[in-house]
Amino acid sequence: MYTLFFRLFFSRMDPEDAHHLAFRWIRRAARVPVLRTFAAAVLAPRHEELRTEALGLRMHGPFGLAAGFDKNAVGIDGLAMLGFDHVEIGTVTGEPQPGNPRRRLFRLVTDRALINRMGFNNEGSRAVAARLASREPVFRTVVGVNIGKTKAVPEEEAVADYVKSAERLAPHADYLVVNVSSPNTPGLRNLQATEALRPLLSAVREAADRAVPARRVPLLVKIAPDLADEDVDAVADLAVDLGLDGIIATNTTIAREGLGLRSAARLTRETGGLSGAPLKERSLEVLRRLYARVGDRITLVGVGGVESAEDAWQRILAGATLVQGYSAFVYQGPFWARSVHRGLAARLRQSPYATLADAVGADVRKTA
Ligand SMILES: Cc1cc2nc3c(=O)[nH]c(=O)nc-3n(C[C@H](O)[C@H](O)[C@H](O)COP(=O)(O)O)c2cc1C
Repeated sequence: MYTLFFRLFFSRMDPEDAHHLAFRWIRRAARVPVLRTFAAAVLAPRHEELRTEALGLRMHGPFGLAAGFDKNAVGIDGLAMLGFDHVEIGTVTGEPQPGNPRRRLFRLVTDRALINRMGFNNEGSRAVAARLASREPVFRTVVGVNIGKTKAVPEEEAVADYVKSAERLAPHADYLVVNVSSPNTPGLRNLQATEALRPLLSAVREAADRAVPARRVPLLVKIAPDLADEDVDAVADLAVDLGLDGIIATNTTIAREGLGLRSAARLTRETGGLSGAPLKERSLEVLRRLYARVGDRITLVGVGGVESAEDAWQRILAGATLVQGYSAFVYQGPFWARSVHRGLAARLRQSPYATLADAVGADVRKTA
């Protein structure tokens, strides 16, 4: 049904316009009490066996929406209504910024992929913090807040920019993510080098503790799939050393491998981050590597090319406690999160594992 609708309607629109329209519909539906109660009853995860504890938070299921869909925290309840058990908002930057000029989002339909160079278009940390502060949640959902660097801020002043965002946003975040992996802000990914990452993460940790003395807000870092394996190991070791709560693997890639011949060459040449199916293999590989290195000491979040319950299950077996997705939502529509959670529950029931927690990393432990 949705696939047909996508083909006939959304696929003929500019991808960014289609995003805004679809998101407006989701938000409208969530404002109608009967509709949202019905939708949530059908779509939200209700499987006892999927109850998950991660980052010190209780969740109904492990699957959530990755950062970038709701950059300004305007539609959290609508997304929760569709069955995403956690919603990561952002990336929010210290100051508001328009992002890159349009067109900046491209669909590679036959590859089930997207290329984006949005460039952190967002209303900035002050406005988003005010919105979160005045929010009256309808659904109890975990809200992650993903922060990044304002483009106009030079690299030497990046720490202060992240600290500003952390101070403003940590009070409203169930968890906080330092994004150093978007390919669309010049120089941002240099912050993944441990010499730069250590002081950045330490400063953000201190800022969150200052802003929220009564609660330890879990802090995670989100990394790129393009890191060399040794650099993945270095970030893992640093995370353990700093007592970080989690690592999100991965963001989009600047590589263009795994694209079919049918994607118009014109599109594959667009600069930006590639997401969706072609990212699957490398994201999974990075996740496995991280789990082999950190085991259960740090919570891992698997993202990148997750399209189905089977993909989500593979991430869990590879070490992910939580799983996220974005691109497949565009192609599969409003029943996607439900089908992932349902399929996960079925897989867990058929597996030798008593709980989801037992399954986390099982494949990696087997081969170790
Ligand atoms: C249009 C678009 C915008 C995105 N914006 C952000 C962002 O602002 N911050 C971020 O950390 N990741 C962002 N991402 C990356 C996603 O959160 C995710 O890591 C990536 O798309 C891989 O997952 P997927 O293959 O399921 O899409 C964005 C992705 C897309 C497609």
